[in-house]
Amino acid sequence: MKISIIYVSQGGNTEVAAEYIEEGILKRFPFAQVNLMSIRDDEVDYEFLQQSEAVIFGTPVYCAGMSWELKKWFDSNVRFDLSGKLGAVFVTAQSPIGGVDTAIMDVVRI
Ligand SMILES: Cc1cc2nc3c(=O)[nH]c(=O)nc-3n(C[C@H](O)[C@H](O)[C@H](O)COP(=O)(O)O)c2cc1C
Repeated sequence: MKISIIYVSQGGNTEVAAEYIEEGILKRFPFAQVNLMSIRDDEVDYEFLQQSEAVIFGTPVYCAGMSWELKKWFDSNVRFDLSGKLGAVFVTAQSPIGGVDTAIMDVVRI
């Protein structure tokens, strides 16, 4: 089972969250192949992504929405077909009432 974790992190919080998620998946499914891919570091492996059964997106909350870098990635890859894959979203924020819900929905509605 291949799982892609695609994330943006400027200060490191979302990266740490992504690593926790990877750790949790591997604890539960030791034979899963998990690929942590930073958009900022241009690490997205499109072949691996295409072969993934599940894709998890992570972003810092910026002004109650997703970060511009993740939005740019979506806008640049609008033709990439994610249909049929399981999807999940996680965010990190400064405040639990700082737009966490709206930022998650920002990604989900894409
Ligand atoms: C431009 C900017 C906008 C932000 N907007 C929010 C916000 O609306 N709500 C919130 O709770 N935190 C906000 N934050 C805080 C970040 O979401 C938070 O520190 C996050 O964990 C940073 O993730 P990173 O360390 O992976 O970059 C903002 C930070 C920046 C730089």
